[in-house]
Amino acid sequence: MSLKNRSLVTIDDLSNGEIMALFSLADAMAKNMSEQNNLCRGKIMASLFFEPSTRTRLSFEAAMHRLGGSVITASDVGASSLAKGESISDTAKIVGSYADIIVIRHPWEGAAKVVADYAGIPVINAGDGGHQHPTQTLLDLYTIIKERRDLKGLKIALWGDLKYGRTTHSLIFALARFGADILFCPSPGLEVPEHVIDKLVTEYGGDVDMISATAKKNANNLFPVDAIYTTPNSPHQLAMMPDMSVQVELKGGVDALYVTRTQKERFTGKEEGQERKRYPVVDKKLLQDKVFRKTLVMHPLPRVDELAYDIDADERSMYFKQAAHGVPIRMALLAALLGVKEFDVPDVESPPPVSYPYYQGQPGPVCPNPRCVSIQPTETKYLKPSFKIVNTSPLTLRCTYCEHGFEPKYVASTDWHEHKLDTKKYHSAASHWAKYIRPENLIVFNTEEEAEAHGYKPSHFVGGQRK
Ligand code: CP
Repeated sequence: MSLKNRSLVTIDDLSNGEIMALFSLADAMAKNMSEQNNLCRGKIMASLFFEPSTRTRLSFEAAMHRLGGSVITASDVGASSLAKGESISDTAKIVGSYADIIVIRHPWEGAAKVVADYAGIPVINAGDGGHQHPTQTLLDLYTIIKERRDLKGLKIALWGDLKYGRTTHSLIFALARFGADILFCPSPGLEVPEHVIDKLVTEYGGDVDMISATAKKNANNLFPVDAIYTTPNSPHQLAMMPDMSVQVELKGGVDALYVTRTQKERFTGKEEGQERKRYPVVDKKLLQDKVFRKTLVMHPLPRVDELAYDIDADERSMYFKQAAHGVPIRMALLAALLGVKEFDVPDVESPPPVSYPYYQGQPGPVCPNPRCVSIQPTETKYLKPSFKIVNTSPLTLRCTYCEHGFEPKYVASTDWHEHKLDTKKYHSAASHWAKYIRPENLIVFNTEEEAEAHGYKPSHFVGGQRK
């Protein structure tokens, strides 16, 4: 099996079997590092890092050097032509003609997808804003499997900034796919975004149960669990008594505690001051609690104040091992996408991919996420907003670039008015009519003004009830 010419933009781009095959290749490469230095001779990796990085950039560059390839670098927007207003697609086309593979980190969510769409060569997402960081997820999974052999049935707690922490977003989907249960322990105000939870439940099955404020208060103070995801494979007691289940879940201990830094650089005015709210630091004292007796303490790094230095020598601390695994994992990935290594893909259980119809209506909505690549002025000249219809009740569209979801307020159908202006009507998206519109006929509006500006008149069902 070959992954030649494929890109890795989100963790969904690899099946569970392909991930396990990459891990076997990484194991083989790690055992014989010095024998790999001819595999990518003559190949060039472009390393485009438009946000700060130590681990991801240097481990990718080290990986390419270990494979005998060469590296070209742009590591500062200010020193590239993006600073002159060049679009991401033009940059992608140009770099695609100089290199054999691109590794990109960019602050805009969905930027890696645009590069992959235009470069004409394999592209690896090294972090796109708060969206995803799929190669970090690979080495996170690899670390857990190395220590615990399997992911199925493990309890993994995610701790800290779950709103903007892109490493946790790709990790959540991967953990669900491999059958782990997830305990969400966000810093106050930095909970997992709704669109991530929606995708988790609709595409990977299982349930997310929210823990009540009273139960949180009565629960272990050291362990502020906010919600629990249980895979379809887990015995499910939570739906009946989610509050009791915090105690039940914690009784057997936690297999891994994945700590993240507060991503202050992505804060909007709304979150300013969140970092000053009290939140337990992961330190020697906290790890004395019996729930952490056998817990792997993980962190994508860099750390700031959330993870104390007093546990660095503790055998449960995995974060430096995680970072070190970055080299063999990225070597395996580069070799696979460049087609210089083929491998057998093991037969590993994986939920089938879900496909959704694309929204085709005109006028199209714009993505409500201010950090989405599709709304940036340099990109709107050529990039058409693109959405999938992921739910009809409530009607929900998901941006194909940043994956944020939103619920439009008003709907119309191209086949209702038969091109006669006097019957060109719009309805409330909450009215029962919304369910009957075929995806290819759907038109959505966010405001009545927008609908009326396009020549539509309110139906009897605007506002969800007959007027
Ligand atoms: N884990 C991680 O992405 O680290 P860097 O930001 O240093 O690359």
